Order: sequence, then structure tokens, then C-alpha cells
Amino acid sequence: MTRPLDERSPVFVIGAGIMGAGIAQVAARAGHPVQLYDAREGAAADAKRKLAASLDALVMKGRLAPEFVQATVARITPATAIDEAAGAHLVVEAIVEQAETKRALFAQLEAVVDADCVLASNTSSISITALARDLQRPGRFVGMHFFNPVPLMKLVEVVSGLQTEPAVAQAIFGLAERWSKTPVHARSTPGFIVNRIARPYYAETLALLQERAAEPAVLDACLRGAGFRMGPCELMDLIGHDTNFAVTASVHEANFGDRRFVPSLVQRELVDGGLLGRKSGRGFYVHAELTVTGPATPPAASAVALPSAARWRVHGHGALVERWLEGLAREGRAFERVEDSAWSGLELDGAQLRQTDGRPAAQVAAETAVRDVALFDRVGTTEPAAGSALAWSASGGATEAWQARAAQCLQAAGWQPQRLRDVPGLVVARTLAMLINEASDAVLQGVCSAPDADLAMKLGVNYPAGPFEWLARWDARQVVALLDRLDAHYRGERYRASPALREQAWLQEARTT
Ligand code: NAI
Repeated sequence: MTRPLDERSPVFVIGAGIMGAGIAQVAARAGHPVQLYDAREGAAADAKRKLAASLDALVMKGRLAPEFVQATVARITPATAIDEAAGAHLVVEAIVEQAETKRALFAQLEAVVDADCVLASNTSSISITALARDLQRPGRFVGMHFFNPVPLMKLVEVVSGLQTEPAVAQAIFGLAERWSKTPVHARSTPGFIVNRIARPYYAETLALLQERAAEPAVLDACLRGAGFRMGPCELMDLIGHDTNFAVTASVHEANFGDRRFVPSLVQRELVDGGLLGRKSGRGFYVHAELTVTGPATPPAASAVALPSAARWRVHGHGALVERWLEGLAREGRAFERVEDSAWSGLELDGAQLRQTDGRPAAQVAAETAVRDVALFDRVGTTEPAAGSALAWSASGGATEAWQARAAQCLQAAGWQPQRLRDVPGLVVARTLAMLINEASDAVLQGVCSAPDADLAMKLGVNYPAGPFEWLARWDARQVVALLDRLDAHYRGERYRASPALREQAWLQEARTT
């Protein structure tokens, strides 16, 4: 491939559905002459009309200049046959997600376009290597994976298969930048970057629901408390359980049934029952037309004093520890500070309120011979908003009085305690650890670089931080220890630590010893 792609290069978009229409709009906005084709007669013209109407609405609101909209819309021409792709320098395919249909289309295209035309697929789950298999010139074939809604979402995964020429991937990368997108390079592997690394965000919550750790609204509130814009249950309701389940199932299958990616019975039941989320009116939540019974936002915690205790010890570090130190000082309480403790949290007259390390509270109680043990979750952001939900649990043997005091300590630190069953790793700690783990494996396997994994998760699914940014605020040794404890608790492949993360933990250990 020698021909450079610039804004004069004609672009042929195939599939005038949600994604194809968005891609046509973005290409036209950047100045390209765009042809839009769909197998369904009239679909491309319809898509152009809808696009013009939605842009006109933005002109009415004063958000876009009328001349800009007119010029953008004028650059899009509905095509009526594949043959019209003859002069294209780039074809972007966004048709139905079926490998055979896509392959047949590309074979047909190769007979029409010239030798330098780049062929790109917006597939979200099919291997780019496999789609290129029967092409005469597989080197010009590349994945150009946009996110929905295309005009708004910044990320584009530029996916290279085994035969994709680096110059082709680079040309698409540069073009995506000129389309005001933020591209990242990805190697063609199941789920590419975002759809792979994001799996645990849904899977951990589904696993917790399966063991009845808490209601969906509680788990959603805890992850929102950690800075995520939407909790996993509300997000799955938005995406549609059928779609979300299909992606998980395809990543699971593509990894030869690796139990790390196993789909959930909880979600399967929703799909089988037609409870697909917003689009069907009900998923985890009921979505009536006007009123949405969505996840409850916990009320802001009112100022609560620390409980009474004769002897206070403050262990370790962290956002809650800092707040407790401030509170103890403010309330004039005497306390002992154990900075280099093996755990972080509070000790009140011998009872322990500890940050989770991946063991259930009952196990901590057994191993420390302390009856009154309660655990709290990891705080996801460095500056959590006041009143943010925070998961906690207590050992089944803990006294009622201790449980009440533990909850009061969390409120006194400014969090809204959300009680979970005594599950290891609670919800935020295990979810973040698994996201970090998956990202580590992706980087180890050459799917993407660590900075690109962070960028992709922030731009592709709006995460408040990237997995490696969370890791930088944590400690690889603690993440691995947490995963190993989950692994020991549940037995199976699910919590298998990435070799890359384990290596990092050893290196960190070697540096400090
Ligand atoms: P859609 O169902 O909205 O649109 C697909 C369009 O392709 C339809 O208008 C259909 O008539 C047309 N079509 C089907 N077979 C065709 C053929 N052989 N030749 C020409 N046109 C044909 O689907 P959507 O959501 O736009 O997805 C399209 C592609 O983009 C799929 O590969 C999907 O996996 C991928 N994708 C979808 C995302 C999403 O959120 N919807 C996100 C990222 C990628």
C-alpha cells in the first residue's frame, strides 16, 4: 500500500445501520466524499435523511453552523450497488456481525476496487486474521473498530491481523486522528482491547449476584462510588443483555472455553426470559416509559461521630485511614498508630475493621482468632465524593454490637456503608483487581501497550481511570495476593493471576527486600 489517505480520499461505507451511518457522518465531517451503501433498498438514503435531520436539530440549538452541516450532508451520497466502490481509496464495512457474510462481501469488493484501496472492517468480535483469509491482498485488510455512538465516542481500535501490513494500520491510525478520533493499535485477538478488558466489570458483579452477595442496586451504587459512571447492572441493562451475553459468550468460545471468561447463568436467565434491559422494558431494573426504577443513589452521609471505645489503634494507610485519623484528632480521642501494619483499618478494643485483602471476614476471624471482624472495600478514586457507597461485610460470628460499630466507623469517615454477604474481595477490590489482571494479560500477549489499554478503557467505556493507573495507586503484590486468595476460595481458573502481574509483584518485592 503506497497511496496516502487524506481528506480528499473517497470513502465507501457499507452498512447504513447505527454504526455505518455514524462512520459516514464522521468521514464526511472530516471532508471526505463519502458513499453509503446498504443491501436493504432505500436504507442508505433513509440514513442520510435521518442524519441530516439530527444535524439540523443541532443547528436549531445553535450548536452547529448551518453551512458546516450542509457541506457535511452534501458530501454523503447513497450508493445503490457495490460496483460504485470502484473509485474508493478506503472501504469501511459495518454490516451484520457474521463472518461468512462479511467474507463474501470482501471477496466481491476485491473484484471492484483497485489494488491500493484499503479494506477496513468495523467488526466488534470477528478475527481480522480470519476475515482476511481468502483475500487476494490480505495485507490491505485492517480492523477499524469504532464505538457507539460513533460521532461522540473518541476511541478507534486499529486492529491488525497476522497479514495486515504495518503501513496500512499506520495509515488508518493517522486517518482516525484526522477524523478527530483517538486511535490505539490492537492485535487481532478475541474482544480486541476494550471488549476483552471490560469483561470482568460485568462478570464480577454477575458472579456476586449468583451467590446472592447483594442486590443489583447495592452493587451498582458501590461501583459508582468508586467513580464508574454507571454500575454494571444498569450498564448491562443499557447495552442489552442479549448483546452483552453474546460478546461474553464469543470471547469465552474464542478462548477455547477458558473459565476466566465463562458467561453467567444469571444473565442467561434474563436473556432467555426476554428481560433484555431498557429496550424490552425490564432487565435488572424496570424501565417504564417515563419512570425508571433504577439503582438507588444512597443519601449523602450525615456527619456521624465515631463510636465509643476504650482503646483505638489505627493500622496502615489509605483514604479511610486518613479520615479516621482526622476524626480521632478532631474528637480528641487517644489512639495508637501502627503505620507499618500488615493491614489497613481500625482496631477498637481488639475488634477489627480491615480493608479487604481477598479473604472473607470469616477466614480472617479464624486465622487471627479475633471474633469481631468486619471488612471494607477498596476505594476506587483518590478523592471519593462525600456519601459515596462503600461495600462492607462482617464475619458470621461477629456480634451485633460490633457490626453496628463497624458501620458507624465507615459513616464517620464519610462513606455510605452498603452491606454485602461475607464474600471475598467484596466488589470494588475484586473488580479492579480483575480488570488489572485482564489488562496485564492483554499487554503480555501483545494485544496493546499499557498506556493504550488505559486510554482505550477511559475512552471506549468511560472508565474513571485505566487499569494500569489503578495498579500504580495500588501494589502489584497486593493485587496478586488478592487474586490468589480469590483463587483459593473459589478454586478454578477464574482468578488465575496473569504471569505479567505476578512477575511485577516479584520485582516489587525484590526492590523492597
Ligand atoms: P445494524 O443492524 O444497525 O446495521 C447493519 C446494516 O447492515 C443494516 O442496515 C443491514 O441492512 C446492512 N447489511 C446487512 N448485510 C449486508 C450486506 N451483505 N451488504 C450490505 N449491507 C448489509 O448494525 P450495527 O449495530 O450498525 O453494527 C454493524 C457492525 O458494527 C457489526 O459488525 C457490529 O458488530 C459492529 N459494531 C457495532 C457496535 C454497536 O454498538 N452497535 C459497536 C462496534 C461495532
